[in-house]
Amino acid sequence: MTSRLPGFYELPHSERLRIVGQFAGLSDDELRSLGQFGILTAGLADVFIENAVGTFSLPLGVATNFLINDREILIPMAVEETSILAAASHGAKLARAGGGFKCSATEPVMTGQIQLFVDAYTDEDRATLEANHDALIAYANRGHDSLISRGGGARELDWRWIPEIKSIIVHLHVDTRDAMGANIVNTMAEKLAGMLGGLLCCETGLRILTNFTERRLAKAECLVPKAALESREYRAEDVVDRIVKAWEFAWYDVYRATTNNKGIMNGIDPVLIATGNDWRAIEAGAHAWTARDGTYRPMAKWSKDLDGNLVGSLELPMAVGTVGGVTKLHPTAKAAMRLLGLPDARELAGICCAVGLAQNLSALRALASEGIQRGHMDLHKKNLDLMAANRGPRTGASKN
Ligand code: MEV
Repeated sequence: MTSRLPGFYELPHSERLRIVGQFAGLSDDELRSLGQFGILTAGLADVFIENAVGTFSLPLGVATNFLINDREILIPMAVEETSILAAASHGAKLARAGGGFKCSATEPVMTGQIQLFVDAYTDEDRATLEANHDALIAYANRGHDSLISRGGGARELDWRWIPEIKSIIVHLHVDTRDAMGANIVNTMAEKLAGMLGGLLCCETGLRILTNFTERRLAKAECLVPKAALESREYRAEDVVDRIVKAWEFAWYDVYRATTNNKGIMNGIDPVLIATGNDWRAIEAGAHAWTARDGTYRPMAKWSKDLDGNLVGSLELPMAVGTVGGVTKLHPTAKAAMRLLGLPDARELAGICCAVGLAQNLSALRALASEGIQRGHMDLHKKNLDLMAANRGPRTGASKN
């Protein structure tokens, strides 16, 4: 048995599956579980990835109660973890009592990096880069007429010197409009590397976008009237104070910040998956952003206003796309986008932040009062009871 399978990707699916089954001694049932294509079809699976043998199903749910920029909206979320949909819906209900979420986003500017190897960064290098700035931008934009006609395109170049690796790192900033933009930026960066290497008579290194998309930010804000936070165990004022203290705990403690932020991504990732977006890119950018001052912090902020209400905000790099790639090809992603009302990339970025903030609000409210296990265990028990009764798994919403 060997994992060396030259030409595997060229074989028909049935043959790929037969080889995989033989390799691991899989039963017919197991092979059937691996080899399902469902709505995606085998042809599309092959468009997305190499060596496809099947697809992997996740539950797709809808979070309720969201009011975003005064718009009623149902949120599609693809995820396997019990209580996430219930928590998002509950957080949205709390925020709704204060008028819902207010969301905004910057222009969708992505950044590509081009590494230039030089022995030293000289005044001459700086002068050459400055003198050629506009020509380099024009060159980067050549061949991208459709992006430019949609109002996007390469905008600006800047650079910095990293002496430890004897490299000038040039940053190319590109407005990619409704595209996530990885392909556009990588293509431009590769093209520009040749011209930059020629101008500075140097070797070039990497040419690739950064997922630390600090120029492509989205923000969600909400106010929760204190009365909405009254609980069985705690007075509303105490819940507000305890939520703010829970946030402070995360601000000063990386162990707590990590779990807090996992909870925020519990909201964001499922929306990204449901809409066919690259959740790994957003995860990487979000964690880098939250550690940008050198300390890993909670992604959202919670405080109390002068009237004693709870005020929250979440700002993150949010490089989502609504055109091209999976978003436009995957039938479920397409339907999820329709469910959201076909937002553009900036709107979708804001929606993702709103869901992350709702998730965090719900988790902190529970943690700061009765704890999360009561709600979790209710749902978990329901699942176990149903599975024991052999009626299949089901989750329910406890607080929405
Ligand atoms: C569980 O998936 C997420 C939480 O742990 C988040 C948090 O602690 O803030 C509940």
